[in-house]
Amino acid sequence: MTDSAKPATTPTERTPMTVPRFVRAKQRGEKIAMLTGYDFLWAGILDDSGIDAVLVGDSLGMVVQGKSSTLPVTLDEIIYHAEMVCRAVKSALVIVDLPFLTFNISPEEAIRNAGQIIKRTGAAAVKLEGGVNQAETIRRLSNAEIPVMAHVGMKPQSMLKYGGMNRIQRDREQLLNDAKAAADAGAFGIVLELIPREIAKEITASVSIPTIGIGAGPDCDGQVLVTPDMLGLTSGFNPKYLKRFADLRTEAQQAFKDYISEVRAGTYPDAEHSH
Ligand code: KIV
Repeated sequence: MTDSAKPATTPTERTPMTVPRFVRAKQRGEKIAMLTGYDFLWAGILDDSGIDAVLVGDSLGMVVQGKSSTLPVTLDEIIYHAEMVCRAVKSALVIVDLPFLTFNISPEEAIRNAGQIIKRTGAAAVKLEGGVNQAETIRRLSNAEIPVMAHVGMKPQSMLKYGGMNRIQRDREQLLNDAKAAADAGAFGIVLELIPREIAKEITASVSIPTIGIGAGPDCDGQVLVTPDMLGLTSGFNPKYLKRFADLRTEAQQAFKDYISEVRAGTYPDAEHSH
């Protein structure tokens, strides 16, 4: 291979993603790819694949812990998962969700809890659900030098108020106000969850920080999905926006079935796999 044909960097040699680079990506018109990560194994695979950002989402309550919502996730649990992720990630930006009621009581408590996340895990940023209603907390976190991403639209932590999850949010004015309030308060990015694509496009054009969509159409500055969903590891959750990029549940089940049959038949281990 000639020098000019060589890739500039291999995945493990990438320039680490930082908050300023993340923001600059929007100015450069570069789309941002983000996925969730919850442990050392998958976070390493994500990072080696060249992902820009790994979100330690409180979706872990459902996809890892098997609970019916994100509400029970605690600060200690998210820190436990974020530590594992940070141990694996060399290049991507690691962002950690502030769980339900760890930031809503007061800005002081939000700073204390976000500080615990940053100090104990080595993550670069936190995310919180809210816009106008969390503007003061976003401002205070930002002033405390803690980069914060906002999350507007469908907010899973508000499920008790909505009477359920996964409802498309269509109040254009409220959504625009939430996004602008978050950006004005100092957020470095905004997740837009389950909103009509035209509104996401308008928000994206009206703020200078990157918007990261999930069920918000193609005009956001980047996209995020829940990793076990996009890998086809989960079942029974089929929103329109979800593309399964693999069918790992079927592949894993086939491997487990083959193993079980071979153990039961006494054909594993064979001579090739014995010392
Ligand atoms: O918790 C999570 O995984 C999230 C994403 C869906 C954005 O907040």
